[in-house]
This record gives sequence, structure tokens and C-alpha cells, in this order.
Amino acid sequence: MTFRSTILITGGAGFIGSHVVRFFVNKYPDYRIVNLDALTYAGNLENLRDIENKANYVFVRADISVEKEVFDVFEKHKPDGIIHLAAESHVDRSISNPTEFIYTNIIGTVNLLNAARMLWKDQPGGKRFYHISTDEVYGSLGDTGIFTETTPYDPKSPYSASKASSDHLVRAYHHTFGLPVVISNCSNNYGPNQFPEKLLPLFIHNIRQNKPLPVYGKGENVRDWLYVVDHARAIDLIYHRGKDGETYNIGGNNEWKNIDLIRLLCKLMNEKLRRHPGTSEKLITYVKDRAGHDLRYAIDSSKLQNELGWSPSVTFEEGLSLTIDWYLANQNWLDHVTSGDYQKYYENQYLKR
Ligand code: NAD
Ligand code: TYD
Repeated sequence: MTFRSTILITGGAGFIGSHVVRFFVNKYPDYRIVNLDALTYAGNLENLRDIENKANYVFVRADISVEKEVFDVFEKHKPDGIIHLAAESHVDRSISNPTEFIYTNIIGTVNLLNAARMLWKDQPGGKRFYHISTDEVYGSLGDTGIFTETTPYDPKSPYSASKASSDHLVRAYHHTFGLPVVISNCSNNYGPNQFPEKLLPLFIHNIRQNKPLPVYGKGENVRDWLYVVDHARAIDLIYHRGKDGETYNIGGNNEWKNIDLIRLLCKLMNEKLRRHPGTSEKLITYVKDRAGHDLRYAIDSSKLQNELGWSPSVTFEEGLSLTIDWYLANQNWLDHVTSGDYQKYYENQYLKR
């Protein structure tokens, strides 16, 4: 079978990446989707079980921080486009071990930029390097204000500093070498398949198991939440219709103070688990705050809405309910992830055939 285009998606076994891979594989049967992932603790091929045998899908295990591995993948698959999601993504891990974030998020991005530059030097037309970033690069807001595409960068955690650095490098490759890049910066995602170290899956898991819910500080930090499939829809639009060299902010216009969100989650979980009102709330436990904890993020996504016609497709109430239902229906997934069993999936699926 011949394909119209080959897109390399990095980090496709992770949370957002797996939704993006599924979206593209199903929507574009004439694109060949190459999923490059190192399968770190956050990469789980079980996320893609439903599409792994499709004719337009290929998985390649490689580490973007190793130049040769990246160049070998480019040489073999010759992508026309790259959607780059692979990253170390958890702020708490970046506080305990920043170095890994430098290798993957910065060096890894430079390796991809260099490989794309090399591959496309003779045929630059119709190519696209799409870098997926976060609103955390803009720093922390006070009680008012909102991040726009022109907000100056002011990252505060090793995670956000490493993402900011990669964003700058992507822009520099556009400015200096004319690489056809586009960047988007998105707010906090939630939905199925998120590793249970992040707030929502961790708390859903703990409520189900009657374990304490560790709220950092006073729970007054604010995040702007977006359903992961709406992020994937935005990525599709920006990949196809975004302008070279431009940045697009993506957000749900959906700010929640952590403690209010956690109380809503407890209420919904009480209903879904048929527990008495107030039961899950008793698990709330205030713990030592995260070091350098950003107070508030809020995204202005009007550029994306006005120029490309994007808007979220699910309300927060729908998205949160769908998300809880997914984790409750997929206890196996959570059990595999928390026990580490999911890491055997690659071996069984890809090496023992
Ligand atoms: P994730 O941690 O769930 O997944 C990251 C994926 O990257 C995993 O599959 C992992 O195996 C892979 N990976 C890590 N290091 C690698 C390496 N050296 N080589 C190859 N693959 C490697 O992350 P996520 O939450 O899905 O985030 C994906 C991207 O979206 C990241 O770039 C992140 O900065 C960005 N982002 C995330 C959010 C969010 O709320 N989760 C919001 C905005 C932007
Ligand atoms: P997180 O999901 O780690 O995303 P990010 O730090 O990238 O925004 O955390 C979301 C918010 O929830 C953040 O303000 C930190 C807070 N939080 C807790 O209070 N307790 C927890 O156990 C975790 C993981 C996060």
C-alpha cells in the first residue's frame, strides 16, 4: 500500500500521544503513522491495543536523546511531518531528578530538529515540524491575567524550564534555518490513559481504594483543564492549517482551584461508587506544598478559535464523568500501571512474535 504522507509522532505511547496517534490513524487511513517512543515508565503500548494492527500504523522503540537512534528512524521512515510529544512531563519528577528532563526535553528536541533539517534540506516543501508544548512555560499568574501567545516566557520548574528551552530552540531553527515549524502551548489535560502520578488519575485511584488524597499546600492553586481528545482535535487542526513559525495557545477556558476540583471529584465518585455523600471527602489530606508550586495557569485560546475555528467539544462535566467512568471500567489498566506489569506488554506483543 502506498501512503500519501508519513507522520512521525513522538511519545505516542504516552497519555496525550496515544490519543493523538489513535486520532490520526483512524481519521487518515492514507497517512502512515510512525509512533516513536522509548517506553519509559510513562509509555504504555496497552494504550494503543485497539489500533496496533492497523495497516497505517508502525511502532518504533527509540530514545530521542540518543542522536543515532533518531537519525536511524529518519533514515528508515523518511517522515514528511513530525508531531513531537515525547517528553518527561511530571513536575514533581523534575524536582527530584531534573537531569532526565534536560536529556529528553532539550537534547531530544535538538536531535529531532537536526534530523528533520538534514532529511528535508533538498525537498523543503510540504514539510512540517510540530512541537507540542505547555502553558507552564509562561510561568505563574496571580489572581488575575491570562496567558496569550505573546506572554513573555518565565518558567519556574525544571520541567517548564526544559520545555521553554525546547520551544526557543524550535523557533530558532525556524528563524535561522527556515525549518517549517509550528508550536502549540496547552493547559492541563485530563482523560483516559493518564499515568496515575498526575492529580486526577491519582485521586480517582486513591478514592476507589480508600487511600488518602494528598492535597499540596492549601489546595488553592488553579489549573485550566482540557479534555485530552479536544487537545488531539486541536493538534489535527494546527498540524494541517497552522501557519509556519506561529504559536497557538490551547485551553479549556475552564479554571478550577484544586480543592474545588477535588471536592467535585469526591462528590461524583461517591455517586458512581454508591457511597454516602461526604465519604470520599474524608480522604482529603493536606500535605507539604510542592517546591516552587505555580499558583495559577489560565490560557487565552482565542487565536486558535478565531483563526482555525477550534473549540472544545465536551463540557467539563461530561469530560470528567467520562474520565471517571473510564478509570472505573479499566481497573486492569490501572492495576497493570501501578504494578509495572504494563512494561511487559512490549516484550509480549513485539518481541515474542
Ligand atoms: P506522558 O509522560 O504521559 O508521555 C510521554 C511519552 O514520551 C511516554 O510515552 C514516554 O515513553 C515518551 N518518552 C519519554 N522520554 C522519551 C525519550 N527520551 N525518547 C522517546 N520517548 C520518550 O506525557 P503527556 O502528558 O502525554 O505529555 C505529552 C506532551 O504534551 C509533552 O511534551 C508535554 O510537555 C505536553 N503537554 C502535556 C500536558 C498535560 O497536561 N499532560 C499539557 C500541555 C502539554
Ligand atoms: P499535576 O497533575 O501534577 O499537573 P501540573 O503540576 O503540571 O499542573 O498537578 C495539578 C495540580 O494538582 C497542581 O497544582 C499540583 C496539585 N497536586 C496535588 O495537590 N496533589 C498531588 O498529589 C498532585 C499529583 C498534584
